[in-house]
Amino acid sequence: IELPDQQRLIRFEFTEPPRSGDDVVRCEGLAKSWPLADGGGKSVFSGVSGVIRRQEKIAVVGVNGAGKSTFLKVLAGRTKPSAGKVAIGASVSAGYFSQHALDLLHPDRTIFETVQDAMPEATIGTIRNLCGAFLFSGDDVDKRISILSGGEKSRVVLAMLLVRPLNFLILDEPTNHLDIQSREVLLETLQKYNGTVVLVSHDRHFLRSLANRVFELDHGEMRIYEGNYEYYQSKTTAKDWS
Ligand SMILES: Nc1ncnc2c1ncn2[C@@H]1O[C@H](COP(=O)(O)OP(=O)(O)OP(=O)(O)O)[C@@H](O)[C@H]1O
Ligand SMILES: [Mg+2]
Repeated sequence: IELPDQQRLIRFEFTEPPRSGDDVVRCEGLAKSWPLADGGGKSVFSGVSGVIRRQEKIAVVGVNGAGKSTFLKVLAGRTKPSAGKVAIGASVSAGYFSQHALDLLHPDRTIFETVQDAMPEATIGTIRNLCGAFLFSGDDVDKRISILSGGEKSRVVLAMLLVRPLNFLILDEPTNHLDIQSREVLLETLQKYNGTVVLVSHDRHFLRSLANRVFELDHGEMRIYEGNYEYYQSKTTAKDWS
């Protein structure tokens, strides 16, 4: 049977990133409040202490507005904490994904050109393979960014991020616009990835299949669960019943 084009998945061999130190991030008494228009501040979280260790795949969970994206921005150094500190470990090279990155793509460039700009040393074949791994085949790669859907833009940004030799990925809702097949590609890539991951996603299948530790933000506090997503769920369900 001939599979339709989009189901013929191309596997891309990502190069192993250089190994980081065992402590990837050390947070101590971390707090963040955002400035308010009236001159005051809105406290999002405080008193967050803990260590993110090499090869952990951490799910950051919490309701809308709990502060997940804020926490990731602080980790990624995109905004300063209001108190406490974030110490990044030795030989850590971090990459950050958020929806905002989709808006930073150059609208007039094609997918191929965009990826090529990010890896000017790569051969045409390598770029085509990378695009293929993110489900852009044939003429797709000549589409301009300006006409792409949210899911297609996400795939472009993720391809560029994952091809870099990073050993720490900070991913804020990377699956947001992705269809099932693209989610699976991303999931498989992250499962094989031997660096460290901090991830926000509302996709439970994704969290169950990937996370080996869970950070829960609740009313400005961070609770750390030393187990996978099922462990977290078992703990929180039991709590609801008590
Ligand atoms: N740049 C900002 N300036 C001011 N306030 C902000 C800013 N970013 C977030 N906030 C506020 O901080 C709080 C936490 O927002 P955050 O985006 O971190 O939540 P979240 O857990 O990621 O939510 P969601 O699940 O909806 O993405 C919210 O009350 C939000 O309005
Ligand atoms: Mg968010």
